[in-house]
This record gives sequence, structure tokens and C-alpha cells, in this order.
Amino acid sequence: MNVENLRLINIRNYQDLYIELNKNINIFIGKNAQGKTNLIESIYMCATGRSFRTNRDREIINLKKDQAYIAANIKLGNYKKLIEIKLQKEKPKRIRINRNELKSFRELESGLYVVLFSPDDLKIIKGGPQERRNFIDNAISQLRPIYSYNLSRYKKILYQRNNLLKSNKFKGDAKSLLDLFDVQIAKVGTSILMERNRFLNALNALARDIHRQITNNREDLTIKYDCQLALDMDRERIEDAYLELLKKNMDRDLEYGTTSIGPHREDFIAYLDGKDARIFGSQGQQRTVVLSLVLSEVELIRNEIGSYPVLLLDDVFSELDDERRNYLVKFFGKMQTFITLTDGENIKSMENLDKTIYHIEDGKLKMGSCL
Ligand SMILES: Nc1ncnc2c1ncn2[C@@H]1O[C@H](COP(=O)(O)OP(=O)(O)OP(=O)(O)O)[C@@H](O)[C@H]1O
Ligand SMILES: [Mg+2]
Repeated sequence: MNVENLRLINIRNYQDLYIELNKNINIFIGKNAQGKTNLIESIYMCATGRSFRTNRDREIINLKKDQAYIAANIKLGNYKKLIEIKLQKEKPKRIRINRNELKSFRELESGLYVVLFSPDDLKIIKGGPQERRNFIDNAISQLRPIYSYNLSRYKKILYQRNNLLKSNKFKGDAKSLLDLFDVQIAKVGTSILMERNRFLNALNALARDIHRQITNNREDLTIKYDCQLALDMDRERIEDAYLELLKKNMDRDLEYGTTSIGPHREDFIAYLDGKDARIFGSQGQQRTVVLSLVLSEVELIRNEIGSYPVLLLDDVFSELDDERRNYLVKFFGKMQTFITLTDGENIKSMENLDKTIYHIEDGKLKMGSCL
């Protein structure tokens, strides 16, 4: 799959941009604050319907304008798709695929899959559990739109349950009302837990292998899902155990006014040679773990849908040492890749690859072969 061209109108610092893209490697070079990440963000939006930088769509519209537009022609094997996103300041965004309007961006099955890698991803290891949940949730949502739907339902029910827990008014007979919520929460929660478990198992197998290759067999990476429920059972039994655990914790939940178990509390831990990478890993080791996870996501998508996603690398080249850089470059031949670099970075490792270099200055592009 590849993005053939991209049109941006009033997207952040772009007035009107049209760009034809290389089906292999696209390199965007520019000083800070010229529009490199804005371009990566637009491609990401065509795949997922949303930005990775903000939940407020209006931030993406140029400050001086009221509306903005993104369009991309996508090639998927033998057929093509036109994805269009229209952003308006006071209204929800509108998305069309081949000129058919979608009811919601959650319906977006663009056929375009992306994997993003940016320095911010170090948070997957260094940050709190929420960062890790975001990583898994974004990855699974792209593969299964139903997962994203379940997540938003879960959040809604959880919010209602927590409100009920907090409200003194209901304290007397809250328990019978809670029972009703709990049946719903256990159902949708179980779907989420099972999907995460499946994803992490698959990721673990791939990451282990990739990490060995990156570190020349020096390090052993394992990822473990940190879940309060045993998940190696069939669905019904997990749901029953879930309900039971909710009941067991009910008094405590009422006391604290919050739900103490469920997908919103889970985490996963990355171990290097059996030691928690978050605590014992050096900065470089943690970076390598993140690289292994991101590349595993690439392979996982390929296993699930049969073709490689588009790889978006924002500012990561400068962060990697030669060994990791060379390993990453080996992946480029497999899929369309977008790379942003600041001026003057060394791209020797990509010397012999099919690539187009674009220079970005103040929201404008210049094609060029010189560096
Ligand atoms: N809604 C907007 N309207 C106008 N300009 C915007 C808007 N949002 C962001 N910008 C501008 O876009 C510019 C480029 O942002 P971008 O993040 O793409 O830079 P970059 O080239 O990736 O820089 P860096 O190398 O620092 O990461 C910034 O100067 C920012 O002020
Ligand atoms: Mg940037």
C-alpha cells in the first residue's frame, strides 16, 4: 500500500500544498518549525481519521482560516481510494472515501495503515501506564474498528459507574444499581482485555525476535501483560471472574468513589533479561525496546492484513546510533516510508535506496536531490 499524492489546504502552516509521493522512501528535510511533523500528521489522519498530537481538530486548521482540507490518493494492491477530510471550526470533521461520506470517523476503514515512530514514543517505556495503554489501544484500534467502539463504550459506562460510586445520594441502594452497570462493564471490559491479551502475545513473539536481531543476540526482551484477571480461559469464564472481582471490590470502590479494576487500570511491562526495562534499562536500551515494539507493530500488521503499512518516522534518525539506524534502514525496502530530518543530518545509510528528497521551508516544498 502507498500514498500516491497528498493535498493540504489550510492545514496548520500549509496554505495549499500538492505533492506526489515516492512509493518507496520520502525524505523531508527542514529546519525546526517549518512543517515536517504537520505533514506526517496529515498522512496519519488519512489512515486513522484523527491526529496523534491533539484531540481538538480545530487546532489543525490554519489559525487565520475557518476550514481546512486533506485529500490523499491511496493505492492498495490493484485498486485505489480517495480519502478526503474536511475540517470546520465550529462543526465536526467530515470524511469521505471515494466521495461517499462516512457517518463518523470511527467508521473509517481507509485501507491505509500507518505505524508512527517519534522520539515521543520513549514514553511507552518511561511514561506511566496510560502511555502504554495508548500505544496498545491505538495499535489495536487501527486493526479492529470494533475495538475502538468498545473502548469508547467502556469509558462511558465507567464514567457513569464512577459517578454513581461518588454520589452520596445513592449510597443506600447504590449496590443494586451498580449490579446493572457491572453486567455491562464486565461484558465490554472482557472484550477489551481479551483483545489486548491477544495483541500483546503476538507482539511479544515478534518483539523478542526483532530485539535479538537489533542487539546481536545480546539482550532478551519479554513483554508481559499486567492484568488482574487470568485470561487463558474462554470468554464466559473470564466474564464471570470479572463480575466476581467487581463484587469483591465493591465496598472499596464505594469508599474511594472509583472503579479499582478493569482495562483502565492495566499495564504491560517490558523485561530485558528478566529485569524491568523501565527501572533498570539505560536510556539507550529503553530506546531500543521502543524501536523493537514499533517494528513489531509493523510486522504484526503485515501478518494480519497481508501487506506492510506505511511507516512514518518523525525525527527519529538523529536519536539512533549507527547499528540501530542500519537495522531500521533494512525495513525501508519493505514499505513506503516517510522520514523527517532536520538540516544537515547524515543519511549516508540510505545512499543506495530509491528515494525522493523534499526540502520544507515555512509550509512550502522544494524538491531536490542535494542535501
Ligand atoms: N493551526 C495552525 N495555524 C498556523 N500555523 C500552525 C498551526 N499549528 C501549527 N502551526 C505552525 O506550524 C509550524 C511547523 O510545525 P511542525 O510541527 O510541522 O514543525 P517541524 O518542521 O516538525 O519542526 P521540528 O523540527 O521542530 O519538529 C510551527 O511554526 C507552528 O507554529
Ligand atoms: Mg517536528
